[in-house]
Amino acid sequence: MIATELHPAVKPVAFLLGTWRGEGQGQYPTIEPFRYREEIRFSHNGKPFLIYTQRTEAIDTGQPMHGEAGYLRLVGEGRVEFVIAQPIGFAEISLGRVDGQRVDVECASVGRTPTAKRVSSISRSLWLDGDTLRYELKMGMEGVPLARHLVANLQRAD
Ligand code: HEM
Repeated sequence: MIATELHPAVKPVAFLLGTWRGEGQGQYPTIEPFRYREEIRFSHNGKPFLIYTQRTEAIDTGQPMHGEAGYLRLVGEGRVEFVIAQPIGFAEISLGRVDGQRVDVECASVGRTPTAKRVSSISRSLWLDGDTLRYELKMGMEGVPLARHLVANLQRAD
């Protein structure tokens, strides 16, 4: 395989590259709190974006839970565009910034399949804290203002 050079535009988010494993906690005003195990992978192919995949499973049984995949596009002057597809029927387009070792995005739109739940907004923050990758995800639904759904801590696995 040919070694691919990192695209210069992607350097501000190079700290995300690799495979990360850890655990998260979920909550929302309408549900019981829960915990999960998670693997996140950011890779690149020499183009001005990172390739993102995420999968989660139940801590006790190992049963698959949520997963998602997409692209983190670097579009200049620290601006990022995050495009994410979710199996629960959402296509998320989120816009924001990278600042040091932190990425904050807010959704510009959430496309929903006809049977998906009525999610109206998503906001995500990911940041490196020492060797730990942390993130927080909030979501709003029709009838529920933006509220925390997930927090997680992950360590680099490779
Ligand atoms: C952006 C990512 C995510 C979105 C948009 C999302 C969306 C939702 C929605 C809309 C609900 C239903 C709330 C209600 O009916 O009032 C929900 C519930 C739930 N979510 Fe998430 N979720 C996401 C990520 C995750 C992840 C990563 C996990 C776990 C690994 C997870 C686990 C759960 C669980 C266990 C529930 C409660 C049971 C259920 O309704 O299925 N979610 N989520």
